[in-house]
Amino acid sequence: MSSVTKSIPELADRYLMQTGRRLPVTFVRGRGCLLYDDAGREYLDLVAGIAVNLLGHAHPEVVAAVTKQSAELIHTSNLYFTQPQVELARRLVDLSFPSRVFFCNSGAEANEAAIKLARKWGTRNRDGAFEIITTTGSFHGRTLATVTAGGQHKYSDPFQPLPDGFVHVAYNDAEAIEAATTEKTVAVMLEPVMGEIGVIPAAAGYLERVRVWCDRKNLLLILDEVQTGLGRTGRWFAYQHASIAPDVMTLAKGLGGGLPIGACLASPRADIFEPGDHGSTFGGNPLACAAATAVLHVIERDGLVGHAAEMGDLLRSTLGDLGAKDVRGVGLMQAFEFEEPKAKPFQNACLEAGLIVNAVDDHSVRLVPPLIIGANEIDRAQSVMRKVAG
Ligand SMILES: Cc1ncc(COP(=O)(O)O)c(C=O)c1O
Repeated sequence: MSSVTKSIPELADRYLMQTGRRLPVTFVRGRGCLLYDDAGREYLDLVAGIAVNLLGHAHPEVVAAVTKQSAELIHTSNLYFTQPQVELARRLVDLSFPSRVFFCNSGAEANEAAIKLARKWGTRNRDGAFEIITTTGSFHGRTLATVTAGGQHKYSDPFQPLPDGFVHVAYNDAEAIEAATTEKTVAVMLEPVMGEIGVIPAAAGYLERVRVWCDRKNLLLILDEVQTGLGRTGRWFAYQHASIAPDVMTLAKGLGGGLPIGACLASPRADIFEPGDHGSTFGGNPLACAAATAVLHVIERDGLVGHAAEMGDLLRSTLGDLGAKDVRGVGLMQAFEFEEPKAKPFQNACLEAGLIVNAVDDHSVRLVPPLIIGANEIDRAQSVMRKVAG
């Protein structure tokens, strides 16, 4: 059979490493909260490229920024200055806490930067302390260090031996962090809402107590806001719900409007990288930075952070009658859990019915739609989900 007559799934099977299972659909274009497959069928997208497309698909201002920048300058490396990179860094710092920024290309890379920063900080400030306390069930990426940092054995066990220096404790248990702290500890690294495991929000008071502990013990608090950042939870950053600030924060996913970009922000206390310590060829290239600046501009101008909070409440209120035993989340990061192991059949039936949702395991379904989603689209999603749930 010639490659022309083979289907996309067949070609993918032949030519792509099989690192994950794909659903049986090939998307060819998108607009706003809608996606279209190669047969022209329309889907309402409540997954947004896994919490990436904050402004939906093909947002005109992202398209314009990418078009303009790509005609001017796509890449130069970090041997030189470029204006889009500096502009984006300034915007991120203005929106968050006093800090400086390292740019990379993904969430895992942003967390690698944070881990390396913490280790150097420990060498300098805590007598060579290098251990980072993270939480069971957390997800920080797929590089060797970040699968080890993440608290899910299924992602790290096949890759032994793993790097030393990560200690896992239960999420939402500040006492466990306190008990696990030793003279080897350098940092605590947390997701303000654990996303990949199925949307587990920080309990009231948890982040505040960990912040106090880190101050008392001279530890760095690293917050992984790769999934929660940039309006997703109804605040610019999820830590703002707790009225604390981290020493180090990582971002990626939604930042580039779909272009790959990650960022690691460090407060003056933590910002100890020196020339030669870390780097990235593509990180912070003008194209990704121009797209990200456009994304931040539209979020701010259109009040999408407040909109996400409002639509998140609405979405959550529609999830109550799906027969789920638990509905949880913050802003436009919501999940529900079925008693029976039917999340995957539910996801597949929704797809058949033109609705994209994400089964994170056999029981839980995650919804992380674009921040631009409106009440009509939430209504439409609910009526499909209700029919599918029976
Ligand atoms: C909280 C968190 N950190 C890190 C990552 C890894 O990001 P990436 O896939 O861009 O490397 C993810 C991805 O799901 C995430 O949710």
